[in-house]
Amino acid sequence: MKFQAEACTTSVGGPRWERRLAIERRRAENHARRGRRTFRLSRIFSLKTAVKLFLKLSRLQARGEANARRPIIRRVSFSFPNLPTSFDGFRILHLSDFHFDGEAARAVMIRDMLRGVESDLCVLTGDYLADYFDPLGRVYCNLATVLSGVRAQYGTVGILGNNDHSEFVQRFSDLGVRMLVNDGFELGIKGESIWIAGVDDPNTFECEDVAGAMRGASSGAFKLLLAHSPEVAREAVEADVHLYVCGHTHGGQMCVPVLGPLFLNASCPRRFGSGAWRYKTMQGYTTTGLGTSAIPARFNCPPEAAIIELRRAR
Ligand SMILES: [Fe+2]
Repeated sequence: MKFQAEACTTSVGGPRWERRLAIERRRAENHARRGRRTFRLSRIFSLKTAVKLFLKLSRLQARGEANARRPIIRRVSFSFPNLPTSFDGFRILHLSDFHFDGEAARAVMIRDMLRGVESDLCVLTGDYLADYFDPLGRVYCNLATVLSGVRAQYGTVGILGNNDHSEFVQRFSDLGVRMLVNDGFELGIKGESIWIAGVDDPNTFECEDVAGAMRGASSGAFKLLLAHSPEVAREAVEADVHLYVCGHTHGGQMCVPVLGPLFLNASCPRRFGSGAWRYKTMQGYTTTGLGTSAIPARFNCPPEAAIIELRRAR
């Protein structure tokens, strides 16, 4: 069962959606009034600026940029005692944080990397644009290019990140992606089902509604939550989520041996910043993502497409 384009519309609305639209209007007004580059001392005297300068002076920039252009496929496995038997071995292809800046070459590279990768469901966890104020047109072409390489038996599901626009919901739906905005649906296989939910961005827009996304799930259902960042883990545990899948942090993007990531850009424990983690009764996975932001380089933190395999614990 693939999601058909006409079946990919998603219900948006309610106070949180109105809040997102109001924030977007305000951002556009401020941008038109002040322009993109406003003078801020914090921009000049920041750790990111210092790292940028260091990379340039030490000539490590080129190596970091090359690292950022070499994505890997990472395979991880999670076991759950309550996973329906029909979903034992279910493979989720997790793609996140493309940060397309208009260039088509990286989309083509990701598409080619995904050729031959079989999965059951593809999930996109936000940040399709390099910068919120970048032109939107090319992002649709680039996403369409990536999707042409995706082999997912049950289709592709997506959510919005902190760099994304509300209009992506309809435009991505037109590309065949089932967009979830504080919403969920039941995916059934051989008479058994799991609940797949997605929330709006919890990082910057703060328009997420974890409990609302679970509305409709049958009691005792296995629940998968897609969120852009790992910042609503506590709410997810309260909503009885079993697996929390997210991105946003880029795994730190630049990691120092022993010390770990320099930046996570998220209000969460550092252990939620990359890879597999556990919080109370819930398991989680934070991908390093496929793109970069702020500094176009990576160290000790390769970009990745993750294959998350669900196993039923014996
Ligand atoms: Fe993000």
